[in-house]
Amino acid sequence: MMVESVVSFTVERLGDLLIEEANLLHGVSDQIKKLQIELKRMRCFLRDADRKQGEGGETMKNWISEIRKLAYDAEDVIEIYAIKVAASGSMIPFYKLKHAHKVGNKIISINSQISDITRSLQTYGLTTTTTRDNEESHFALETQRQLRWSYSHVAEEFIVGLDEDIKQVVEWLINQEDQHCQLVYICGMGGLGKTTLAKNVYHYSSIRRHFEGFAWVYVSQQCKKREVWEGILLQLINSPTKEERDEIRNMRDEELAKKLYKVQQEKMCLIILDDVWSNETWDILSPALPLKSTKSKIVFTSRNKGISSHVDPKGLLHEPGFLSAEHSLALFQKKAFPSKDDPEFTICSDFERLGRDMVAKCAGLPLAIIVLGGLLATKETINEWEKIHKYIASYLIRGDVHERQSRLAEKVLFHLNMRPKGVKQRRMLPSDTSVA
Ligand SMILES: Nc1ncnc2c1ncn2[C@@H]1O[C@H](COP(=O)(O)OP(=O)(O)OP(=O)(O)O)[C@@H](O)[C@H]1O
Ligand SMILES: [Mg+2]
Repeated sequence: MMVESVVSFTVERLGDLLIEEANLLHGVSDQIKKLQIELKRMRCFLRDADRKQGEGGETMKNWISEIRKLAYDAEDVIEIYAIKVAASGSMIPFYKLKHAHKVGNKIISINSQISDITRSLQTYGLTTTTTRDNEESHFALETQRQLRWSYSHVAEEFIVGLDEDIKQVVEWLINQEDQHCQLVYICGMGGLGKTTLAKNVYHYSSIRRHFEGFAWVYVSQQCKKREVWEGILLQLINSPTKEERDEIRNMRDEELAKKLYKVQQEKMCLIILDDVWSNETWDILSPALPLKSTKSKIVFTSRNKGISSHVDPKGLLHEPGFLSAEHSLALFQKKAFPSKDDPEFTICSDFERLGRDMVAKCAGLPLAIIVLGGLLATKETINEWEKIHKYIASYLIRGDVHERQSRLAEKVLFHLNMRPKGVKQRRMLPSDTSVA
């Protein structure tokens, strides 16, 4: 638990840094600035409210929850903005960015909701009158869903410390004798590497030889039954024809469930359900996924370990551990120094020392390490590194596991990965050293 607290706190700091960063970039609209100021105020308010928990009754609680939702929305918008500008690698004016108008409209709308709340607070004391527009929350949810989406073919090329985990899960899946192996759960906190492990298992050579059908589906918090079922079936049928595709699309839910169920009984299939959030998700999907009279197997990845006892407690649970100090450093250096493998490249000792120190704060959580590395890869001087080091180090270790922090880190990561390679090479020199 302690380790998780450290980790989530570091990720939170990184998120804050990124939001700050929006300030440093040109072309920041006044609306964004206004929103940033409001966000800071909201955070102060929420921190106070957390301290005074329970005071103020139902109206106050309701009001706090409204503010919290708005604060999350505001953070989302600022993050998306900061990430987009940072990822574009140049100072492209905000209005030229793709989807800028959507983000722009959202900022205006959040700002106006904030004024609404403030006004109603003044007028009615603690009463709130804001309503949230469906379309807006849909936009936020959809953005989050797109960013989290996992694809089996997009594989990370640099993987550390996963050999034993892969071996274990592969062994369970290939085992034919023990029927408990029909279900495998990979569980742990956000950013721990569950999806990464599942992908490596999915592509493992003996797994490829063992099973006859394969399906990888990203399930997500907003599980869409039809999308998941169709997605699995289309993958299990090898190269479906256009007619087959149309037929599947036109099936009624019952027909589709039955067909999918049957395929898994006839063929030895491996299905990966990536990112299953709740027990209800399983209840929704289960009519199409047989647990009896089949040699097919299902792997779940989930942050929620409770899923294993809900689906079938006899299944096997694997909980990946945090990375060792050595693996953490290797991963960090790979991300922070993209030209590290170049024989001419040396890491200046000051960068090395600061890097080690900051990596230690990530406590072995791959996502935190990657986000940190990605952020530092864009910082060229020792002064900038020191600033970030100080920022991370200056906070006491506190806080509890907060799903949102990893979600944020993920967004950062997604956009950093999109940055064209080799656009900017870092000078590995302290800022006060002149370049020859
Ligand atoms: N062992 C590893 N070596 C190198 N990179 C890793 C490793 N494990 C995870 N990563 C990287 O860390 C990031 C987060 O990993 P991943 O998406 O697998 O986490 P997760 O546990 O599935 O998180 P979530 O609960 O949010 O789905 C990814 O970019 C992944 O490439
Ligand atoms: Mg995942």
